[in-house]
Amino acid sequence: MGEDIDADPTWRGDAAAWFARRMKEASTFAAFVAELPGSGVVSCAVGTIDDHAPSPRNRSGQRGEIANVVTSPDFRSRGLARACMSALLTWFTDETAATTVRLAATSVGEALYRSLGFAEPRDLILQVRVAR
Ligand SMILES: CC(C)(COP(=O)(O)OP(=O)(O)OC[C@H]1O[C@@H](n2cnc3c(N)ncnc32)[C@H](O)[C@@H]1OP(=O)(O)O)[C@@H](O)C(=O)NCCC(=O)NCCS
Repeated sequence: MGEDIDADPTWRGDAAAWFARRMKEASTFAAFVAELPGSGVVSCAVGTIDDHAPSPRNRSGQRGEIANVVTSPDFRSRGLARACMSALLTWFTDETAATTVRLAATSVGEALYRSLGFAEPRDLILQVRVAR
């Protein structure tokens, strides 16, 4: 979020190829969308499963990640993101072995996520940018 998405538009081809590949991997990928007649897809939420080493609390090693939660501006505040997120959380619960699901929240998404049970993790999560 917050990036200039048109600075180098060739990323869109990379993204299309990634979605085409991952959509075939039904055990580790799910996307729920809201599609309205005449408007097409106006809201979505995407979930993936990462494969980590098993631990005592997570014998499968599966960890969920949510990204690409967005509703087109004209269709916001109608419950569409909540519906996509709820369906995605049901998928994680029913169709995967993940014991935790993570996401990075924007300030506008925070209330929605907290209302669905998301909270700060027990351990501090840090990241570093890799020099390229
Ligand atoms: C965040 C976003 C996905 C919400 O989509 P939406 O379809 O409008 O959300 P919903 O209508 O399902 O509302 C869900 C909750 O979001 C919050 N919300 C929705 N619209 C809001 C607004 N205009 N101002 C503040 N909070 C709002 C509310 O907490 C709402 O709870 P409620 O269902 O009890 O009313 C949308 O604003 C968006 O696409 N923002 C830009 C992209 C982004 O920041 N995505 C989140 C990435 S982490």
